[in-house]
Amino acid sequence: MNNTDQTNIVILGAGKGGTALLDLFTRLPGVTVVGISDQNPAAPALEYAKRLNIPITQDPVQLIRHPGTHLIVNVTGDPDINEQVNTHKHPETEMLGGAASKVLWDLVQDESQMQAQLFQAEKLAGMGTFASGIAHDINNPLYILLAFSENILEETDLPTIHKQARSIIAAGKRIQSISQKITQYTRAAKVQDAVSINVNSTLDEALNIAQFATMLQDISIIRNYEDNLEVLANSEELFQVFVNLMTNAIHAMEGKGTLTVTSYHEDSFGKISIADTGSGIPDENLSKIFEPFFTTKPKGEGTGLGLHNARAIIKKYRGDLSVESTIRQGTTFVIELPYATSK
Ligand SMILES: Nc1ncnc2c1ncn2[C@@H]1O[C@H](COP(=O)(O)OP(=O)(O)OP(=O)(O)O)[C@@H](O)[C@H]1O
Ligand SMILES: [Mg+2]
Repeated sequence: MNNTDQTNIVILGAGKGGTALLDLFTRLPGVTVVGISDQNPAAPALEYAKRLNIPITQDPVQLIRHPGTHLIVNVTGDPDINEQVNTHKHPETEMLGGAASKVLWDLVQDESQMQAQLFQAEKLAGMGTFASGIAHDINNPLYILLAFSENILEETDLPTIHKQARSIIAAGKRIQSISQKITQYTRAAKVQDAVSINVNSTLDEALNIAQFATMLQDISIIRNYEDNLEVLANSEELFQVFVNLMTNAIHAMEGKGTLTVTSYHEDSFGKISIADTGSGIPDENLSKIFEPFFTTKPKGEGTGLGLHNARAIIKKYRGDLSVESTIRQGTTFVIELPYATSK
């Protein structure tokens, strides 16, 4: 097996540095971590590796000798291990020491901060799309609120006053809930640990937001949910991904069509598909849509970051985002994320 695009890496040391690097390397396409070692069987990255089905060992020499390894990353800080690497490694295997690994990790941290900033910029830009729908949704309760308040000033019948006051409160609550959703949408999602997320209620929340965009359009929404489906991710970020995909789908249907949202599970993955009956994506664009700033929308209407961010988030939680599309028939995006056993 001599695949030049593939880099096989072994990690020596499963402490803090080993954990960080394991996290980094398993996220990179084209990189395979073929094993990780630590003399301490309780080292944190060993546990982590087990969950990812990466071979673990307490014997560094076994890994150092592993055939087909391109790179040994040594974060043990142990001079004995350095010796062993020099003695046992294949001549063509390269080695990266602790200081170089740390620089690598710092670079990744820096890049993920930049990613977060791009993410925030895109969300703010996306607000424009929703703004008119939101204004429409706020106008009705606002109208009720003003009309009844004015009425109460002149009204003398107490039961009527109470009734209208209750309507005013309901209208206020409606506006409050819209405003909460917008705050949620614009808040920067912090990088957080993966926790168990209720997929269906997150989909419903996202559909609520996406519905601002379908306002006054002839789009029907079909929900096919698997009961109690839970996946491992961050709920705010997953919500962002859903909103992005739904918004794209709604745009692609140009005012008419069906949006089908499905949740299910297969093997160890929870899956969510978001399917539209819109324009479809031409073959020549399929490979580009996940690139940052790729957009076919008129200037000022799309940042081209939606799908890029969506895929970055899903990958971060060890999942995948894939697409299938037929021109003039529609497009289906499928998210897969590690399945958290349902209750
Ligand atoms: N459901 C879809 N149907 C058809 N084309 C799509 C669909 N989703 C995405 N695309 C295509 O992929 C491009 C990139 O999508 P992406 O979400 O990254 O950016 P955008 O929607 O153009 O802009 P933004 O999301 O920043 O507002 C779109 O411009 C569109 O050409
Ligand atoms: Mg988009």
